[in-house]
Amino acid sequence: MHYKKILLALVFISFLYNCKETKISTSEVLIIPQPLEQIINEGQFILNAETGIKYDDTFKISAEFLKSYIEEGSNIKLEGDNMISFIKDETLADEGYSLEILPNNIEIKAKTDQGAFYAVQTLRQLLPVHFENPNISPLGKMSEGQKGLSVAIPCVMIKDEPQFIYRGMHLDVGRHMFSVDFIKKYIDALAMLKINTFHWHLTEDQGWRIEIKKYPKLQEIAAYRNETLVGHYSDQPHQFDGKKYGGYYTQEEIKEVVAYAQARFVTVIPEIELPGHSQAAIAAYPELGCTSTGSATREQVEVATKWGVFEDIYCPKEETFAFLEDVLDEVLALFPSEYIHIGGDEAPKTRWKNCEHCQALIKKEGLKDEHELQSYFISRIEKYLNSKGRQIIGWDEILEGGLAPNATVMSWRGFNGAIEAAKQHHNVILTPGSHCYFDHYQSENKDEPLAIGGFLPLEKVYSLNPIPEELTQEEAKYVLGAQGNVWTEYITTSEQVEYMVFPRILALSEVVWSNPEQKNYEDFVSRVELFHKRLDALDINYANHLYEIEGELVLNENNVFYQLQTSSNGKTIRFTLDGSEPTINSKAYNNPVPITESVNLNAAVFNSEGKLGDTFSQRINLHKAVGKKITIDKELNKSYPGSGAAGLINGISGSDTRYGDKEWLGFWGDDIEITIDLGEETEINSIETRFHNGNGQWIYAPKHINVSYDNGKEFKINIPSSGELLIPIQILNAPKSRIITIKVPNYGIIPEGKQGAGNKAWTFIDEIIVH
Ligand code: ACM
Ligand code: ZN
Repeated sequence: MHYKKILLALVFISFLYNCKETKISTSEVLIIPQPLEQIINEGQFILNAETGIKYDDTFKISAEFLKSYIEEGSNIKLEGDNMISFIKDETLADEGYSLEILPNNIEIKAKTDQGAFYAVQTLRQLLPVHFENPNISPLGKMSEGQKGLSVAIPCVMIKDEPQFIYRGMHLDVGRHMFSVDFIKKYIDALAMLKINTFHWHLTEDQGWRIEIKKYPKLQEIAAYRNETLVGHYSDQPHQFDGKKYGGYYTQEEIKEVVAYAQARFVTVIPEIELPGHSQAAIAAYPELGCTSTGSATREQVEVATKWGVFEDIYCPKEETFAFLEDVLDEVLALFPSEYIHIGGDEAPKTRWKNCEHCQALIKKEGLKDEHELQSYFISRIEKYLNSKGRQIIGWDEILEGGLAPNATVMSWRGFNGAIEAAKQHHNVILTPGSHCYFDHYQSENKDEPLAIGGFLPLEKVYSLNPIPEELTQEEAKYVLGAQGNVWTEYITTSEQVEYMVFPRILALSEVVWSNPEQKNYEDFVSRVELFHKRLDALDINYANHLYEIEGELVLNENNVFYQLQTSSNGKTIRFTLDGSEPTINSKAYNNPVPITESVNLNAAVFNSEGKLGDTFSQRINLHKAVGKKITIDKELNKSYPGSGAAGLINGISGSDTRYGDKEWLGFWGDDIEITIDLGEETEINSIETRFHNGNGQWIYAPKHINVSYDNGKEFKINIPSSGELLIPIQILNAPKSRIITIKVPNYGIIPEGKQGAGNKAWTFIDEIIVH
């Protein structure tokens, strides 16, 4: 694709106010998401009382947005003669625009109001951040009639259009609920970043959050849980807070949100989960569940009070379909979106297996099993929604047992769902847990707020390519885009939602909007650093991990070095090797540090005034396998490749809590065989490693491993089942050997009663330490 990367020179934005001049300098023209083309020209446009605005009805929303943005942010009334003009241009893409800033006028060209709206969002980022919030203006809040403010905007020509038509953000309001005001603030942020879809996850086991007038018990019963789990699910025994929690959005509130979003070109897609994640609805209307469970009479289920996957799911009987169609009728009246998300994920088949009705239905319809029964369920709902002119989206489990004819697949369990669906010529949206789950940790810092698990730093979000390389060009056309998901089991406040979402949403916005050929993480980070000021002005509680350090062991011939880096530019890293805290007087890092023995390295980022982020600490363990040869008989998993096989013998152990870091290696369902070649026959005192056992994320330590040496004898080491998060293994009394072979069989399909039941288990293995 044609593009010119032109870094813009230092731009000065100056304010002339009441004859007193205040100069504020910004750095370059730094827009997020990065536009397709930007060219700086000579000169400036002066935004002041002489500025006017010209538009017709085609551009009503975008022009009025700009007018009130400028009026509220600066008190400039846009009644002058130097025009900001909105001009129709049929040659541009539907969501594309051009924004030309000339000395005497500004021209916004677009085919649609939506395209012009995105031009306005770009222009917004060329204006001083205090326009976002007059209360923080360096000039104080300006009253009516005060004249004299003038802002110089650099002359620039920007041409822009998105890579993907689906640019989404999700929010789970089932586990925790957030105010209508916050939902609007969230939508505002999406619109600013040119994200055009808000996926509103409205129903869950732990709470039903949308008013359905025909079924009042959804409001009275399903919307409230008696109490909530305290701490992390893996902290056993479980404790509860004893406090009733819940609520729901009234239909009036939902209409208000949908209209608010429409005025910002954000489509709201509601999700009504079925057949699983429906325990709250079944608590309110028990007849929707499977009632005939053999001889035992089932207990009344309650709205769930802890997290996980629950076995009480809708029974595919006529009265359930009648209920769901009634619910969907009310949903359709509120949401004009083409797509309705019907869930489809994590529906255990336990109840269906023991239900007379379900078993009879399987026979009657000639279905093979419960997966085909789920397809039958989804297809019936799809047919109903198609008859109303709507399309369905479902999580990738809707592939199991056969896809409904017109369904769009949201691929969350990695990339395979997307590949499979696109190959079947179905539309897909990428939300792989490895790159898009903003409920995962974003830093190794021990002080991070409690999260569900995982590790998704900013750079990994940025690295996502929504088009899996397995697809042909033709198949790639079925990829509509990508989306960030925010599940809220451990996110209790709106401030925490913001913390988890920002800045990762900035990276996502470039993944879905910007040209992949222009991707440059370092450049992105410098724009993020500047964007912090805008987020401050917007009172958004973003996370800042830009002053953290990343380390990596590097080998050069037979010498070992440790390399440090930080993502922010223009700062100094200082370090110590004796375990002491680095200070402004510690050695500055310039080149990789030679490592000749095991050390405890500490490092931090400094500017001239002092330390900026937290201290990075790393034990570097120079054991006998470091830098030797290692092979693994399976391909690395695309989502969790760590730093390759060599990462298992690089002297660095993985995080104690974040299995997705560079040091842990993850395999999904594979039995693996690891071979380490020490180069010569070597005395071995012990071999140590660790397995992760985060069952909530379907990670299970293997039940045993087998180890063999040069003598060919194989030893089996049993690993007892455990509730611990980390399972350490130590092998003593190994014979002298050159080759060590370790077989790690996968845990297998997760059995009923355990988290992730029915799915393949993940194996996560850490550093293999040979002493
Ligand atoms: C999901 O995360 N259960 C879609
Ligand atoms: Zn049933």
